[in-house]
Amino acid sequence: MISCSAPGKVILFGEHAVVYGEPALALAIDRRITCKVEESDEGTTVNGYDINEEHHGYILHALRRVGVERELEITTESQMPSGAGLGSSAAITEAALGGFRDLTSSFDEKTLAEDGFEVEWTVQGNASPIDTSTVTHGNAVLLSDEKLSDHLWTIEKEGNVWNIHHRDIPDIQLVVGYTGVHARTGPLVRRVKRFYRNNNFAKEIVRDIGDMVRQGSDALEKGDLERLGGLMTKNHKLLSILGVSHPKLDALVRAANRYSYGAKLTGAGGGGSMVALTDEPEKVSEAIRKRGGEPYTVDSAEEGLKIED
Ligand code: PMV
Repeated sequence: MISCSAPGKVILFGEHAVVYGEPALALAIDRRITCKVEESDEGTTVNGYDINEEHHGYILHALRRVGVERELEITTESQMPSGAGLGSSAAITEAALGGFRDLTSSFDEKTLAEDGFEVEWTVQGNASPIDTSTVTHGNAVLLSDEKLSDHLWTIEKEGNVWNIHHRDIPDIQLVVGYTGVHARTGPLVRRVKRFYRNNNFAKEIVRDIGDMVRQGSDALEKGDLERLGGLMTKNHKLLSILGVSHPKLDALVRAANRYSYGAKLTGAGGGGSMVALTDEPEKVSEAIRKRGGEPYTVDSAEEGLKIED
């Protein structure tokens, strides 16, 4: 039996725009998904059900990507809600790929991150490598069209070039607020793609988000929390214009902002979660709870994808 686990992540800046080659910054978090893989002679199953495209798209395409033809009993265990914008799809993809790659004995970070990106692309109809690279590498990860310091690997597709960089975990406190509204990444990514393709204004918003990421990454490096938070709130407004916010997300962002440097939706949006940068986590959690959200205090995690004992 092989057991492999991967962390979730929060995107601090740049979701959606990163799909079009803009930069993005994400942190791995201390909530993980584990995937156990065993040989079976009763067909391939996931948590006791026959594997199928509708419910197990990421795992199914991970299997196809690696080309494992054996029948497998796959069991997953998660410490985070799915569809909450915390990277559960990337974590499940990478944990599964880790298990399958281990079966074929070619386990290395870059290959796994590339495989995961291709799987997300297939399932979502478009994607960036932000989630899959972050949950594979752990720590903080900065994607950029330029090659910067601490470069890890480069992923290219359809004219976009993403240079993936290691960043140390920043010393900041975050509170995540889950709206309770389950939102699937694929339809949101496809909605933005239609808007982006047909509308110059959407292209401008995507570029503005890219600028925000560059400024945010600079503010983070300088430890300027006021500026960092202000940029997060601006990033949220731009994402709302792109059409991926939700009234509950806006309400939680407003509530959290009273005790935060700034707040924004994190991940694909349309529901899912928001994240606030604060030094008053209890007050922010209480404000989120009062508005009907579910607060999570999350810590960043150095550990990325790993084989469990
Ligand atoms: O909600 P999540 O965790 O699936 O985050 C998706 C991030 C997007 O930028 C919206 C898509 C992508 O592939 O980069």
